[in-house]
Amino acid sequence: MNNMEYILEAKNITKKFPGVVANDNVNLSVKAGEILGLIGENGAGKSTLLKVLNGIYPYGTYTGTLVLDAKEIKPENTQDAMAEGIGYVPQEINVLKNFNVAENIYMSDLRLNRLKAADKQSKNVFVNFKVLYKTTETFLKDSKISLDPKADVRKLSIGQQQMLMIARALATNPKVLILDEPTTSLSSGDVQRLFEVVRGLRKKGVGIIFVTHKLSEILELTDRVTILRDGKNISTFERKDYDSNRIIADMIGREIKNMYPQRESNIGVEVLRVENLTVDHPYIANTNLIENISFTVREGEVVGLAGLVGAGRSEVCMAIYGLAPAKSGKIFLKGKEIKVRKTSHAVKQKIGMISEDRKRFGLNFVWDIKHNIAISNLDTIARGPFVSSSEMLSRVTPYYDKLRIKAPSLNTKVTTLSGGNQQKVVIARSLNTLPELIILDEPTKGIDVGSKNEIYQLINDLASQNVAVIMISSELPELMAMCDRFVVMAEGRISGELAKAEATEAKIMEKSVISFKTGQKELGNG
Ligand SMILES: Nc1ncnc2c1ncn2[C@@H]1O[C@H](COP(=O)(O)OP(=O)(O)OP(=O)(O)O)[C@@H](O)[C@H]1O
Ligand SMILES: [Mg+2]
Repeated sequence: MNNMEYILEAKNITKKFPGVVANDNVNLSVKAGEILGLIGENGAGKSTLLKVLNGIYPYGTYTGTLVLDAKEIKPENTQDAMAEGIGYVPQEINVLKNFNVAENIYMSDLRLNRLKAADKQSKNVFVNFKVLYKTTETFLKDSKISLDPKADVRKLSIGQQQMLMIARALATNPKVLILDEPTTSLSSGDVQRLFEVVRGLRKKGVGIIFVTHKLSEILELTDRVTILRDGKNISTFERKDYDSNRIIADMIGREIKNMYPQRESNIGVEVLRVENLTVDHPYIANTNLIENISFTVREGEVVGLAGLVGAGRSEVCMAIYGLAPAKSGKIFLKGKEIKVRKTSHAVKQKIGMISEDRKRFGLNFVWDIKHNIAISNLDTIARGPFVSSSEMLSRVTPYYDKLRIKAPSLNTKVTTLSGGNQQKVVIARSLNTLPELIILDEPTKGIDVGSKNEIYQLINDLASQNVAVIMISSELPELMAMCDRFVVMAEGRISGELAKAEATEAKIMEKSVISFKTGQKELGNG
């Protein structure tokens, strides 16, 4: 094959960390005007490879060659890679919270210089904010990204922050755009909008590298796919040669017989009852984030909170777990009213939660895996001020094994783990508190297909041990398969409830898009 047709080639890349060969002689290439899917299990080495391409791991810290536009490049840092024409959107959301949208997009020397060049009248060394906002507005419009240039970044949803990250990468006008799991936090509408943006870039001749754990996205979007396993290339296929079975087989090296394992539901007495729970909006005065939420969860029951992104599902869970103060309403646990004003109250009441936002509520990144798993109930293994490390190990090892956390050992710091493996640590910690009620907010976010299957099995195990489970998932097929009952939310309220027998994706969607606002207006008129 003629090498010239590739806009970017990575040849024989080997990148090692202590105890881990993250990339073992890996090859990857993308053509101009092509969308290349990159897929592999958690810890397979995808993000590491992208960080090599992007200059985060500078030239000299890996072996192998990078060729961009038929010329070898040796980026020393991300600025170098950016200047060469490599745009990169990392896996973890990382926006500047004290700056607005426009400032976030143009916050770098390179982008600033381009902005100043666009501002022909001005010889001013300072940023002309009028120009900044005008340029940003035009740019966002051209890029088909709907964000307000002046919006306060702290008020953006995770999905909007993800879009901002993409906008920021696009503002450098890259030849190659690297997207590391860009859809994990997006609603299905936002995913479609992102796909439109990406397809538009393909048309303009940009080479795109797209990482995702969602096979449906690989099938829908990509022109070619490269599969990594254990840091090595396994295969690369043209679009006509792959389907999901082919990809799964090469990704995990085994077959998954039952993606959604069956569960014999054995539902007992009520564990949780929420009555008229209302939470204030943190930024908008006189508005409720969630309003009059009432529902129950019983022993051994998995209740799905369904609804669109922004419907308030996470906020309900946060209120139950003590992360968002309730304005009014009551929470009962096994018939007794409880007050949870902070998470330690919830933990004491045997409530566990796996949060969607592991950076804010999840892990302690300077600690190792075993401490992160053990921390929530250290007191149960402590003797006075001492914690026996062998006892800690025997407590946490079963979770480490069962969830197949990929790391050199339990002493590995969680900062060095791949995104999906960090999520597994969050899950392990919550399980280790032996909760009677567990709240799972997007538990499979960023998790590879093989491990998803194991997490479903774990949820079934929890239910069969009489744990009451609340589950949120933006993947409707997953929610449909796992839950006994569905509480549907829209605009911060409950819009309906469905038993498993009567629930269909269509019925859930129908209730998800109900608008109370228009309903209210009619009531007000009457
Ligand atoms: N800074 C680091 N120090 C030590 N080990 C690391 C570091 N970064 C990554 N690793 C290890 O390298 C391997 C590959 O990690 P990488 O993040 O590339 O995986 P990934 O394919 O992106 O996984 P995921 O799907 O979970 O995001 C993992 O075993 C990880 O623990
Ligand atoms: Mg990754």
